[in-house]
Amino acid sequence: MKQHITPADGRLGILIPGLGAVATTFIAGVEAVKKGIAKPIGSLTQMGNIRLGKRTENRFPKINELVPLAHLDDIAFGGWDIYEDNVYEAALNAKVLDTPLLYSIKSELEAIKPMKAVFDRSYVSNLDGTNVKTGATKYDLAMQVMEDIENFKLVNNCNRVVIVWCGSTEKYIQSTEIHESIENFEAALKNNESLIAPSMIYAYAAIKMGVPFANGAPNLTCDIPALIELAKETQTPIGGKDFKTGQTLMKTILAPGLHARALGVSGWFSTNILGNRDGYVLDHPDNFKTKEVSKLSVLDEIFRPELNPDLYGDMYHKVRINYYPPRGDNKESWDNIDIFGWLGYPMQIKINFLCRDSILAAPIVLDLALFLDLAKRSDMSGIQEWLSFYFKSPQTLPELSPEHDIFKQLMKMQNTLRHIMGEDLITHLGLDYYQELVETL
Ligand SMILES: NC(=O)c1ccc[n+]([C@@H]2O[C@H](COP(=O)([O-])OP(=O)(O)OC[C@H]3O[C@@H](n4cnc5c(N)ncnc54)[C@H](O)[C@@H]3O)[C@@H](O)[C@H]2O)c1
Repeated sequence: MKQHITPADGRLGILIPGLGAVATTFIAGVEAVKKGIAKPIGSLTQMGNIRLGKRTENRFPKINELVPLAHLDDIAFGGWDIYEDNVYEAALNAKVLDTPLLYSIKSELEAIKPMKAVFDRSYVSNLDGTNVKTGATKYDLAMQVMEDIENFKLVNNCNRVVIVWCGSTEKYIQSTEIHESIENFEAALKNNESLIAPSMIYAYAAIKMGVPFANGAPNLTCDIPALIELAKETQTPIGGKDFKTGQTLMKTILAPGLHARALGVSGWFSTNILGNRDGYVLDHPDNFKTKEVSKLSVLDEIFRPELNPDLYGDMYHKVRINYYPPRGDNKESWDNIDIFGWLGYPMQIKINFLCRDSILAAPIVLDLALFLDLAKRSDMSGIQEWLSFYFKSPQTLPELSPEHDIFKQLMKMQNTLRHIMGEDLITHLGLDYYQELVETL
C-alpha cells in the first residue's frame, strides 16, 4: 500500500554548515543545471532509473518520476562558514569548477553569504576564521543556529528546510555519558562540556526543530544516542556518516565482487594525495584519526573475516592520506590489492584513480537533501539506513552492523522507494518466469 506522502509544494531550503569545496561545487552545479549549462551527472534523483514490476512489464521510470521530490527550481541555498567569502568567492578559491562556468552563475552565487559559524578550534586546529558566533554557553549557540534557520525560512519563503553537514572533519572523539540521553546532552550544552563538538550543536538545533540532518563528514555528530532519541521524538530523519566518494567508492564496488567469487584477500593498501583544504585539515593526526576509522571499517564489514578466516582472516588493511598542495581537489589514489585464488595462488590488482573529490561528492549532497526531504514528508523518522548508499560509514542502530556493499545498498534504497510508493519489492528471485517450465518437467 502506498504511504501517505505530503506533496513537495513550496520551496525547500538546503542549509549547509561548511561552504567549502564540496558545498560550493554542489550549489554551483545546481545553478548551472537550472540554467541548462550542464547536466547533473552522478545524481540518482536527477538521472537514475528504477525498475518497477516484472521484467516483462518493461517499466523503468526515472526515480524522480516515481517519487515526489522537490524540483531544483524550488530550492533556496544557504549556510554557515568560519570565513566570510560568499559562495562565488569560495568556489573560486576551491578551484574545482572552471572560472567561465562560475562566471555564468556569478550573481546567484554571490547572493549566498555565509552566516556566522559555530566553531571551536580545538576540533579543527589547522583552520582559524573570524566569521564565528559568540555565546556564553554551547546551548546559547544552539539557540542562535535555530534562529538562523527560522530567519532563513522567512527571508527565502521556504516551507521546508534540510541540513547537510559539509564542514571540515573534526578531531576524533568517542561517545560518552554526556551523549547518552537528551537530558545529559542538554545539560552538557549548558555546562559547555568540551566533548560537545560544533557539528553536534548544529545537529541538535536542526533535530530539535524537526529539520532533517545528514552528516557528510566522519565526525560522530548525530550518531550518538541522545540525538537519535531526539530525532525519534521530533520525528526527524537523520543520516551519516562521511560521503562515499573516491577510493572508498571503488572499494565498495570491487570488494563485493571478490567476496562474491570467494577469492581471498591478504592485503589492501590504499594511499592517496590531495591538496585541498580538506586534505590540509586531515594533515593533523587528530582529524586524520576520524577519517581513518571511517575508511577502515568498510572492508571488514564486506569480507566478514570472522565468518571466512581462510579467505580474509589475515588481511592487512592500511589507509594513508597525504596532503600534497599541487593537486588541489584532484585527488590521485593508488590501491594495491593482494588476492589469492584456487589452491592459494597469489594475484595482484592495482587501481590508480585520478578522481575529483568534490565532483563525486556534489551529487551526493543533492540526493541526500532531496531524499531526506522526501523521508520527512513520508513521516519517516530517526536513522534512514536506506541512504547508506551515500556513506562511507553508514549510521545504523547500535545493534545492527552497517551494510557497505554498494549493490546491496542500492537494492535497499530502491526497495525503500518502491515500498513507500506501494510498488512490489524486487527480490531478483526470478523463478516465476520459469514456473511453467519447472512445473511441466
Ligand atoms: N570531497 C569529498 O569527496 C568528500 C568525501 C567524503 C567526505 N568529505 C567531507 O566533507 C567535508 C567537506 O569537504 P570539503 O572538501 O568541502 O572541505 P573544505 O575544507 O573545502 O570545506 C569545509 C568548510 O567547512 C568550514 N568549516 C569548518 N568548521 C566549520 C564549522 N564548525 N561551521 C561552519 N563551517 C565550518 C571550513 O571553513 C571550510 O570552508 C569534509 O569533512 C570532508 O572530509 C568530503
